[in-house]
Amino acid sequence: MLEINRVSKTFNPGTINQKTALNGLTLHLNPGDFCTVIGGNGAGKSTMLNAIAGVWPVDEGNIIIDGSNVTQLSEHKRAMFLGRVFQDPMTGTAATMGIDENLALAARRGHRRTLKWGVTKQEQTQYRELLASLDLGLEDRLTSKVGLLSGGQRQAITLLMATLKQPKLLLLDEHTAALDPKTAAKVLELTDKIVAQHHLTTLMITHNMRDAIAHGNRLVMMKDGQIVLDIAGEEKRKLTVEQLLERFTDASDRMILG
Ligand SMILES: Nc1ncnc2c1ncn2[C@@H]1O[C@H](COP(=O)(O)OP(=O)(O)O)[C@@H](O)[C@H]1O
Ligand SMILES: [Mg+2]
Repeated sequence: MLEINRVSKTFNPGTINQKTALNGLTLHLNPGDFCTVIGGNGAGKSTMLNAIAGVWPVDEGNIIIDGSNVTQLSEHKRAMFLGRVFQDPMTGTAATMGIDENLALAARRGHRRTLKWGVTKQEQTQYRELLASLDLGLEDRLTSKVGLLSGGQRQAITLLMATLKQPKLLLLDEHTAALDPKTAAKVLELTDKIVAQHHLTTLMITHNMRDAIAHGNRLVMMKDGQIVLDIAGEEKRKLTVEQLLERFTDASDRMILG
């Protein structure tokens, strides 16, 4: 479903701020893979997701989504294949619009901007059911302004919006990091549910090793713009935080030795 082949990206080349954020990065995901991504600050995790989304052109390599080479496609064109959720609950939703309007906006993605506005009765029914599935009591607040909701509720809505059109890839960049532990756990539970329901191929960045182990069928560790560890299946199921911390050191050592 996703092929990242030998992708490199250097920011501010030729200046004192030059930084190689991706360094020949290769990662292949099978359909339905739910891959968690860990790594230290500045390892290139967010840059990898930005490269997939086409935020800027990459310097080298190619990116293939579901068989289509998207390397030259604009961010706007790729957006149709992707669902994205970021760390900040304020960024994914429009605060001054209703819950229903936010969902309708997501549902109209890929259609012409000139499409007539308004949420239909049929959509309202559909959204009420979707919201009920969140179990946050939001189904009775369909027209409430999103700005009145808590951070966790907004992330839950953002997650619904990102997955409403069944994206080929779901990209989550520390989407629970700004939430309190209890709310974060709830949003992660919801993430698991939505991913399983739609068999979504997913990349989830987290700085929480426990979450990285507990969620998904695969785990990769990044360092210096490359994948330095890739664990799947039974091996991942048996993985402990302690082992991962050990591997952290091992992987670092390997990089230094390599
Ligand atoms: N738009 C940008 N301009 C300049 N440098 C950037 C940009 N985006 C990321 N970087 C740099 O690239 C490196 C990797 O960043 P990032 O992918 O955000 O790391 P993380 O693994 O913490 O998400 C960092 O050194 C960061 O400062
Ligand atoms: Mg980041």
